[in-house]
Amino acid sequence: MVGFLLTFIFPLVNSGLIYPTQVRLSWTEKEHQIRVSYRQVTSTESYIAYRPILCQDNPEWTYLLTDKTRIDVGCYGSRMQFLHSGVISNLTEECLYQYTVGQGLFWSDTYVFSGRTPEYTSLNDQKPAKFIIFGDWGAKVGHYTKYLLKQQARFRDFEGILHMGDIAYNLHTDEGLVGDLFLDMIQEFSAEFPYMTLPGNHEYHFNNASQYMDRFKMPWNEYNQGTSLYYSFDFGLTHFIMFNTEFYLRKHSGSEGQLQLEWLKKDLEKAKLRRKHKPWVVLLTHHPFYCNVDWTRSLHDRNTECGIDAPKLRGILEDLLNNYSVDLVFHGHLHNYERDAPVYKNTTVLSELDTPNLHLNPKAPIYITSGNAGNKLKRNDPVSTTLQDWCRAVSQDYGYGKLHIYNRTHVLWEQYSSEKLKRIDHLWIIKNI
Ligand SMILES: *[C@@H]1O[C@H](CO)[C@@H](O)[C@H](O)[C@H]1NC(C)=O
Ligand SMILES: *[C@@H]1O[C@H](CO)[C@@H](O)[C@H](O)[C@H]1NC(C)=O
Ligand SMILES: *[C@@H]1O[C@H](CO)[C@@H](O)[C@H](O)[C@H]1NC(C)=O
Ligand SMILES: *[C@@H]1O[C@H](CO)[C@@H](O)[C@H](O)[C@H]1NC(C)=O
Ligand SMILES: *[C@@H]1O[C@H](CO)[C@@H](O)[C@H](O)[C@H]1NC(C)=O
Repeated sequence: MVGFLLTFIFPLVNSGLIYPTQVRLSWTEKEHQIRVSYRQVTSTESYIAYRPILCQDNPEWTYLLTDKTRIDVGCYGSRMQFLHSGVISNLTEECLYQYTVGQGLFWSDTYVFSGRTPEYTSLNDQKPAKFIIFGDWGAKVGHYTKYLLKQQARFRDFEGILHMGDIAYNLHTDEGLVGDLFLDMIQEFSAEFPYMTLPGNHEYHFNNASQYMDRFKMPWNEYNQGTSLYYSFDFGLTHFIMFNTEFYLRKHSGSEGQLQLEWLKKDLEKAKLRRKHKPWVVLLTHHPFYCNVDWTRSLHDRNTECGIDAPKLRGILEDLLNNYSVDLVFHGHLHNYERDAPVYKNTTVLSELDTPNLHLNPKAPIYITSGNAGNKLKRNDPVSTTLQDWCRAVSQDYGYGKLHIYNRTHVLWEQYSSEKLKRIDHLWIIKNI
């Protein structure tokens, strides 16, 4: 009997064949909602069981039957699995919610999330909020970042995680096993905090992001049609835009880039009408618009991204971002950290007051690259080159950043080194509005 258990049952359980794995949360396109997604290998009916805690008497468990989609995460062979997904509605921000997913005897651990969600039509939430922001995170050396993030997660020290592309290295590698490994690795965060993504170049394996689109369910809009490739949401005092730069840097994207630009213009116009209540506008992409480039070295010597791609993206977007007074632009792609001053057309724009760690009433977007959450590829080197005039801080450490929106006037950005276990850079942005 023991032999039977060890030989047959244990591997089944352990490989996630029976228990749900890769549990993750994301916000949806509606207020007071959260989506729970997870993986199962079998097509069994499966449920999300949840209840509010710490906010009402005798909370009851509610059982929500999930929708399941059969997806193939293999590249050449076939590795079928089921993505289960369900949307919990009617959340209230006063509550925490406890939940578990599964069926019969086989349930996941119990996790907790907060009932505070984005706003799309209301304008009530004026409270402070914190977001973890980074790009380029995979398994293996990604464990540095996992360790530090775990300390912050213990205190629920942030509302959500924004991953700016290049996920897992790669979702499709080894017939999708690497993607599975990564989604298991992040579960302790993604099951308790919304894990919001956008695609990077590593998600475009077959010149389309099919694995990314299959695995991640981000807010729907009439332009993205549920592809998860770009979207926006208001949280607290901030309008967040998740933008896909891949459309402009790949050969076969065609009209998708144009469509996204149309969407962006409408989105910025809407944000403008809500600006009085949502004074901060933050755009996130995978590819940088500004990054330090050593003009003495050949453009192909790892300078292509900054010397060719960045000016191209600026040509498409910079005027728009400037016209709508976007406050901050974040990107990944380069495996390093770089913080730039407010800059427009490759020139530093002075604020009313500039110190090394503060801009008062900045007059152009501030550009920040935080693309080194950790992966096994080479680190980029912004350190040994001559820094551009607008470049304010650089580092090669593995790490990630935290954006702390205090109120209408004060925002603090902090970059952490996951290797040194400390904050290595910070910036106050102050607006007298
Ligand atoms: C949400 O609440 C409304 C009104 O309280 C109710 O009519 C509706 O059925 C609820 N929806 C869900 C999914 O619980
Ligand atoms: C993505 O590309 C692969 C390989 O070319 C193709 O089999 C698949 O149908 C494409 N998916 C989409 C959504 O276009
Ligand atoms: C930005 O604003 C200027 C001045 O109003 C206008 O000429 C230009 O067309 C605008 N550009 C974009 C891309 O919105
Ligand atoms: C940006 O400015 C630098 C000087 O600071 C110059 O060397 C470089 O050619 C400029 N790049 C572009 C794309 O205009
Ligand atoms: C906004 O937050 C900053 C930083 O905590 C604080 O110094 C400032 O007094 C706050 N402003 C208001 C109006 O609450």
